[in-house]
Amino acid sequence: MTEPVVDIRQLWTVFQNGDKQAVIHQDLDLTVQRGEVLSLVGGSGTGKTVLLRQMLGLEIPARGTITVLGRPVAELGQRGAASRVGMLFQQGALFSAFTVLENIAFPLRELGVLPAGLIRDAAMVKLQMVGLPPEAADKMPSDLSGGMIKRVALARALIMDPPLLLLDEPTAGLDPESSDSFCALLRSLHEAMGLTVIMVTHDLDTIFELSTRIAVLAEHKVIINAAPRQVVAFEHPFIREFFLGERGRRAMALLAPSPQLL
Ligand SMILES: Nc1ncnc2c1ncn2[C@@H]1O[C@H](COP(=O)(O)OP(=O)(O)OP(=O)(O)O)[C@@H](O)[C@H]1O
Ligand SMILES: [Mg+2]
Repeated sequence: MTEPVVDIRQLWTVFQNGDKQAVIHQDLDLTVQRGEVLSLVGGSGTGKTVLLRQMLGLEIPARGTITVLGRPVAELGQRGAASRVGMLFQQGALFSAFTVLENIAFPLRELGVLPAGLIRDAAMVKLQMVGLPPEAADKMPSDLSGGMIKRVALARALIMDPPLLLLDEPTAGLDPESSDSFCALLRSLHEAMGLTVIMVTHDLDTIFELSTRIAVLAEHKVIINAAPRQVVAFEHPFIREFFLGERGRRAMALLAPSPQLL
């Protein structure tokens, strides 16, 4: 059996708010296999962003273990995790005083091992990979559209050629056309690079367009992690509300008919 790319066991996340404790995750388990595109869905405040940050070593859980690419995150540390895991943050998070190319190159420059010329070349390759023209290299983030900002942030997340990519609401705030083209880009990168992708999103079109699996966060844990068709058939109030409302039915029409149902 192949080793999972991410393996989370018995995870607890507890935040202290004054003298009150807020339990976010309680005995949460999640396993993600190589090559999957896993959509992580759940209500606002259920701890999706926190879970991604924990996979990156940016936050330490109260209890439990997180293994990423065969190593415990606690052992890798932030720097170690950052070189193996690409992250597209929920708030685009480009440095406004840096050009597009400087933004993309930032993680490589931080490493401080490659000469400037090589770093520039590597960043130019990624710029092209995310479908931006070479002229975009010297633009400032304030001159970019929302779709372009997401592409630059994606190029930066991919600069180290990480085998694992984490995306937090990658298409939020994009108009439908930019959102579709960003989805198409993610799909082609996933195919070309053999990436494993974990994506937090509320966008049903994005979910059904890209996911090989969907994991649902509710009641402080992952209540189901399965193929999209199995997840939508799972009896749970959140799932019913999320997938089977009108928007959900429209997006689900994208799913090819399943052989079992014919
Ligand atoms: N550092 C922190 N200290 C205290 N509470 C925190 C901290 N980080 C997150 N929280 C709380 O944990 C909960 C989960 O936050 P998180 O940002 O992961 O939610 P989310 O599922 O990503 O929500 P959304 O869909 O709105 O982005 C929230 O109630 C948030 O206020
Ligand atoms: Mg979030």
